[in-house]
Amino acid sequence: MREIRAAITGIGAYLPEYRLTNEEISTMVDTTDEWIMQRIGIKERRILKEEGKATSDMGVEAVKELLEKTNTHPDEIDLLICATITPDRPFPATANIISRKARLTNAWSFDISAACSGFVFALTTGTQFIQSGQYKKVVIVGADMMSAITDYTDRTTCPLFGDGASAVLLEPTTEDVGVIDHLNHTDGKGRHYLRMKAGGSKLPASVETVEKGMHYVHQDGQTVFKYAVSRMADVAVDIMNKNDITPENLAWLVPHQANMRIIDAVARRMKISPDQVMINIQKYGNTTAATIPLCLYDYEKQLKKGDNIILAAFGAGFTWGSVYLKWAYDTDK
Ligand code: UT7
Repeated sequence: MREIRAAITGIGAYLPEYRLTNEEISTMVDTTDEWIMQRIGIKERRILKEEGKATSDMGVEAVKELLEKTNTHPDEIDLLICATITPDRPFPATANIISRKARLTNAWSFDISAACSGFVFALTTGTQFIQSGQYKKVVIVGADMMSAITDYTDRTTCPLFGDGASAVLLEPTTEDVGVIDHLNHTDGKGRHYLRMKAGGSKLPASVETVEKGMHYVHQDGQTVFKYAVSRMADVAVDIMNKNDITPENLAWLVPHQANMRIIDAVARRMKISPDQVMINIQKYGNTTAATIPLCLYDYEKQLKKGDNIILAAFGAGFTWGSVYLKWAYDTDK
């Protein structure tokens, strides 16, 4: 009998309506549309503006659309994993809140904190429960409300990030599709270069931490850029070589969307052409754990059953990883 694999069998997404354009950012900090387009490649990003709304609310909408599109009853879901670094609160887990609000009455759920690699790590984790034969339906959510931790007076970070959520359904298959391989890495030496400085057990929230802006994203952009290019390219090339993927038989690279220059460098190292690369950074910016599933969502109609797809990500930690999968369905499904 053929081995059981985990296949993505549907995608849902949620993007807030508000579009924060480069023109508007130029009124907030000393920057220009030209600089942002040249150095990063983002035109606008979505921002969750509604009072009281948080990451879970976007996740719930993505899950609801996913269940509707895949004709799945909420009771059928065994497990929900949410990748996020902007949970509604430090605890309880945002996954628990999403499960409750989406009425997943039979699922257990937990969060994964791996920043921009969160979706790749969560997909790898969920895959194990399907491959083992234990579960039939697992939901993987990537959701981040980066506007909640972005300092809109800091021109070096505020153009980068946006809000959004996306969710995929994983189901078992014995066909020659689904998740085939994964390579994931972490290295805590990166902890100094991209982080939130306070709000955890090391430096709990205080008037001082708030006044000093220590609850925002801080990064050493150049160092992160350097590591992002080399690590993301290395892991994507490694997974290609390990699985005999060539530029000719690869249908799509789905890269984390942090900077157009990083994406171009990774594609060059893989020797693939720009039309093999999913890109939506110009519309949404860096939505952290949501970028990769949002790409799959936007390109879903172009995907064909059997397409070889490589996902690749790099993020705070440092974390980086790659998943190789064969797409499991044609979109007229
Ligand atoms: O999601 C995973 C983690 N994140 C990333 O992968 C992000 C990685 N880093 C980057 O994408 C880039 O480093 C940035 C986009 C953050 C910055 O681009 P850069 O080309 O590395 O710029 P830089 O930090 O070297 O700054 C170059 C110049 C500086 O001016 P001086 O010192 O040369 O006079 C900055 O002050 O650009 C200036 N600058 C800006 N100018 C206009 C920085 N931000 C801006 C801005 N508008 N928004």
